[in-house]
Amino acid sequence: MSTYKEVKKITTHILQEMKVRGEKISMLTAYDYSMARIYDDAKIDVLLVGDSASNVMHGYETTLPITLDQMISHAASVTRAVKRSLVVVDLPFGSYQGNSKEALVSSIRIMKEAEAHAIKLEGGEEVVESIKRILTAGIPVMGHLGLTPQSIYKFGTYEVRAKEDEEAQKLIHDAKLLEEAGCFAIVLEKIPSKLATQVAQTVKIPIIGIGAGSGVDGQVLVSHDMLGINKEFSPKFLRRYLNLYDEIKNAVEQYVADVKSVDFPNEKEQY
Ligand code: KIV
Repeated sequence: MSTYKEVKKITTHILQEMKVRGEKISMLTAYDYSMARIYDDAKIDVLLVGDSASNVMHGYETTLPITLDQMISHAASVTRAVKRSLVVVDLPFGSYQGNSKEALVSSIRIMKEAEAHAIKLEGGEEVVESIKRILTAGIPVMGHLGLTPQSIYKFGTYEVRAKEDEEAQKLIHDAKLLEEAGCFAIVLEKIPSKLATQVAQTVKIPIIGIGAGSGVDGQVLVSHDMLGINKEFSPKFLRRYLNLYDEIKNAVEQYVADVKSVDFPNEKEQY
């Protein structure tokens, strides 16, 4: 029997209902108006304005350099495009860690200036105070555990996390804390699928995985990766649905050739 239900506007409550009836949640990253319009039209449930914008939109090696102002600018163009999807925006590195008041101020800026629907932040126990404070303003919060790219200099690598029992137990503990604090969902990045399934069965809120297997409540990918705009990044968990790098390159090469040969514009393409 199908678990799919037609929905006009996705809310955090709808995501909770989807978990209860077993309908998987689809989520992709978006950073600009034109692409967000296409994703929303394709009925993606959640659009994440991820701080992966630092890598794929700004060309930085890590997610650390992107600023709150830049995130707000990306987020505002996404929300202007969207009719149906829930738009979640990452709090960037340095806008919330270790200071719950600053976390609240940053979240309010995102909600007010970008008209976002929710925020996401990375971490477990260490960010619970911030989560609780953000929630006092009525701002929905999504958590993020496992591989948390803002801590890359602590981890040292982008390898699979929580393979050892001690880290796995801490992750389960953190997931329960985030649920108790009031998060409406949690992203689990790059952890063993068995552990991710266990977390999804332990907490009542939706668990959205990236490199976390099929036993969770939904999946998220970085849109540039699944569309093949990046050729260099090909982890095991990634499924590419297009090879846009080559498609765009071929089209541009053809355009260059047409301009050079004066094939473009032809008689019909001029006034
Ligand atoms: O910034 C991002 O794109 C993310 C996803 C990897 C979940 O946080």
